[in-house]
Amino acid sequence: MNTQYLHKQLATWYGSNHRILPWRETSDPYRIWLSEIILQQTRVAQGYDYYLRFIERFPDVMSLAAASEDEVMLLWQGLGYYSRARNLHKAAREVAERYGGVFPPDYAAVRALSGVGDYTAAAVCSFAWNMPYAVVDGNVYRLLSRLTDDDTPIDTTNGRKRFQALADRLLDPANPRLHNQTMMELGALVCTPQNPQCSLCPIVSLCKAEAAGTAALLPVKGKSAPLKDRYLTYIIYKSSNHTLLCQRHGKDIWQHLYEFPLLESDRLLEADELGLSPLWQADFVHILSHQRLHARFFLASVASLPQRDGTFPVAWSSLSDYALSRLTLRALETLPLDL
Ligand code: ADE
Repeated sequence: MNTQYLHKQLATWYGSNHRILPWRETSDPYRIWLSEIILQQTRVAQGYDYYLRFIERFPDVMSLAAASEDEVMLLWQGLGYYSRARNLHKAAREVAERYGGVFPPDYAAVRALSGVGDYTAAAVCSFAWNMPYAVVDGNVYRLLSRLTDDDTPIDTTNGRKRFQALADRLLDPANPRLHNQTMMELGALVCTPQNPQCSLCPIVSLCKAEAAGTAALLPVKGKSAPLKDRYLTYIIYKSSNHTLLCQRHGKDIWQHLYEFPLLESDRLLEADELGLSPLWQADFVHILSHQRLHARFFLASVASLPQRDGTFPVAWSSLSDYALSRLTLRALETLPLDL
């Protein structure tokens, strides 16, 4: 492939087409790292607000390192995949302890931080210090698989190796920062999953999928494992103005988040099995990356809250102080609170 032509076309296109985004206006590795962790979890439009909230509350890595885990989780609430938030906090503490709060300008050291994989390390090192590491995120996988009309599944070891090697070969050594931003931006704005705008693409003349008419079939993904079904029955106790919460522990979903008292079983439970005459109940199906959760919530009015191991009373008005799973938030949105 003519990489000189590729680099020139990409740079020209980026100059007049890229979006102005706050994490692109900085070379502060902390801000770049933070934005990349958030953007792995959500799209730019939603990520923008979370990024600004995090930066306002934690303007530098030391302030994030000094925060409580509960506060970090509460700011992350709604983004899902909470292990990312725990790792974010852990990595901030690592930077504080190992490097006195200064991100080390070194790929291996950045890659060794909690929650930082090949992609994030390459993004931080190229965006902050213009180091020659090629980023391969979902946008870049799609772009590269089309550019070369390569149907190797991207979510396999072989696929990851192939596309990373290709990205490394195509990287513009004279300007890795600009090159990486452009590959991602072109994937996000032009080489889109559906209806790619090939007529607007600055490198369409190099694109094998466009020539073969296969763009819509790429990238190929391997078969993912079927979702595991789980059955969760929750009881929302209501005394005059308090309820019961508990914190999740152990190696499972929603580690360290708060939720209502739970009974997990191989099926949803009925009110009479629990000795309840609920004021209200509702069922939800909630999909996580590997699990399909079948959840039932009962709202039970009680004269005094029961004593249950691991639970503690919380005023209704203080519920927003606790980081809750998105499933719990969904239930709360539909709860008739005037009951
Ligand atoms: N998605 C992930 N990283 C991004 C970045 N730096 N700019 C725009 N979108 C992104």
